[in-house]
Amino acid sequence: MTDIEKKPDRAPVPKEWTYAPAPESRDVVRLQERYGHFIAGEWVEPSDTYATISPASEETLATVGQGTQEDVDRAVAAARDAYANGWSSLPGSERAKYLFRIARILQERSREFAVLESLNGGKPIKESRDVDLPLAAAHFFYYAGWADKLEYAFPNRLPKPVGVAGQIIPWNFPLLMLAWKLAPALACGNTVVLKPAETTPLTALLFCDVLRQAELPPGVVNIVTGDGRTGAALVDHDGVDKIAFTGSTEVGKAIQRQLAGTGKKLTLELGGKAANIVFDDCALDQAVEGIVNGIYFNQGHVCCAGSRLFAQESIYEPLVEKLKRRLETLRVGDPLDKNTDVGAINSKMQLDRITELVEAGKEEGAEIYQPPCRLPEKGYWFVPTVFTNVAQSYRIAQEEIFGPVLSVLTFRTPEEAVEKANNTPYGLSAGVWTEKGSRILWMAQRLRAGVVWANTFNRFDPTSPFGGYKESGFGREGGRHGLEPYLRFEE
Ligand code: NAI
Ligand code: MG
Repeated sequence: MTDIEKKPDRAPVPKEWTYAPAPESRDVVRLQERYGHFIAGEWVEPSDTYATISPASEETLATVGQGTQEDVDRAVAAARDAYANGWSSLPGSERAKYLFRIARILQERSREFAVLESLNGGKPIKESRDVDLPLAAAHFFYYAGWADKLEYAFPNRLPKPVGVAGQIIPWNFPLLMLAWKLAPALACGNTVVLKPAETTPLTALLFCDVLRQAELPPGVVNIVTGDGRTGAALVDHDGVDKIAFTGSTEVGKAIQRQLAGTGKKLTLELGGKAANIVFDDCALDQAVEGIVNGIYFNQGHVCCAGSRLFAQESIYEPLVEKLKRRLETLRVGDPLDKNTDVGAINSKMQLDRITELVEAGKEEGAEIYQPPCRLPEKGYWFVPTVFTNVAQSYRIAQEEIFGPVLSVLTFRTPEEAVEKANNTPYGLSAGVWTEKGSRILWMAQRLRAGVVWANTFNRFDPTSPFGGYKESGFGREGGRHGLEPYLRFEE
C-alpha cells in the first residue's frame, strides 16, 4: 500500500474557467475562387456575379453567379428534359438508390460540409456538425425509404409526380433546407431547380459535387444562385409546376399573389413567433436549458425559435434569475471554435434588423439584460439578450426578430397562457414545460401551432411533419405529409 500516493485533501480550485481555443481546421474544405450555376449536370459560366463572404470575418470566400432570367430558363428546360426523359418513369426502387447514395455521401463528407456551413453562414461548428449535417443525411435516408412505397402511403389514390419543382430556400439552415426540399421532391419522381439564399450558397454548390458522385442523371437537380430577383424569375416561370418556399412572410405573401390563378402548386414555410410556456410545476433547470436552446440555438435565426417566453407568475423570479445566470456562460465568437455556443449573425442586413427591433424594445419600455461579453472586432455579432417587462403589444412581442433576443411575458392560468400564446399572426411552433401529462395534452389541443414540443424544444426528425398555421404558411415538410405537395393524384 505504501506506493499508492495519498491524494491531497483538497483538489486545487481553479481561479477562472477560461477555455483554450479549440478551432476546427478549415483545411478539409477546398474552395474554388469562382462558381457558376449547376445546370444539366454541368457548370455554366454566370453572366453576372457577386462575392459571398464569411459573416464572422467579412472575408470574401468566393465569387458566385447572380442568376439571370436566361439562367433560370436554361435550368428549367434542363429539369423538364430530365423529367420527361427518364426520371419520372424510373421505378421508385431505382430513385431510392440515388437518394440512399446521396445520404451516405453526405455522411462520409459531413466534416467538410459542416466546416463550410459554419464558414459561410456563421453558425457554430458544433451545431452544423451535430444538427445540420446528421439531419440533412437523415432526410435523404428517410425519403429514400418512401420512393418505392408511394402507393402504400396513399392507397387507392394513384400518386404521380407533379413535374418540375422550383425551390427557394433561406440562409439559416442552408444545407438542411436543401435536404428538406430535394429529398421528398426526388423521392416522388419530380425534377428540381433550386435557388439557395444569396448569403449562403456554398454548401449547395458543394452539394453539386455529391450529385455527381452519386451519378444522379443530369438535369434532375439544377442549382441557380442569386438573390430575390433570381427567385422571382423562378416563381414566375411557366415551365415550373410547383413552388416550395421557405423564408420571410413578406416574400411568401408576394409569391402567393404572383401564383394566384396559375394552377401551380405552392407550399410556404414562413416566419414565427413561438411561445415557450413554463408552468410552475416543471423541472426548472431543465426548462432553462430548453429556453436557451429555444432562442439562442443558431443565433436565434430559427423560424420556430421560442422567442416569447411565458413564465407562470409564481416562478417568474427564480426562472429569470436562473436564465440570466445561464446566459453568462454562453460563449459567443468564432463559429469554427468547437466551444462556441453562439456564432456570427448571418449578414449585415440581419444584424441591422435585430438592432432596430432591440432599440424599439428599449424605447417601448421593456427592460433589457445582456451578459458581459467581448465580441470579435470584425464580423457581425449580437450579444444574447433577454427582455423583461414586455407587454404583448410591443414590437418585440409581435414581430419576428430572427436573432438571439428573448421576450419574457407572464401568465397565471393555463387559459391565460393559451390566449396570450395564440395572440400572434404566426403559428409555427410552441413549447410547454410541465410535469403533468394531462396539461400537456390540454395545451397542445388549444395552441394554434404546427408543432408543439413538450418538455423539450427545437427537436427535429424527418419522420415528423413540420409547418405552420396562419401567417407561418401552409403545407407540411417531413413525414408522410411531406410527400403530398410533390404528388398529384389520379383518383
Ligand atoms: P427572404 O424571404 O427575402 O429570403 C428567403 C429566400 O427568398 C432567399 O433565397 C431570397 O433570395 C428569396 N427571395 C427574396 N425575394 C424573393 C422574391 N421576390 N421572389 C422569390 N424569392 C425571393 O428573407 P430575408 O430578407 O433574408 O430575411 C428577412 C426576414 O425574414 C428575417 O429577418 C426573418 O424574420 C425572416 N426569415 C424567415 C425564415 C424562415 O425560416 N421562416 C428564413 C429567412 C428569413
Ligand atoms: Mg428579403
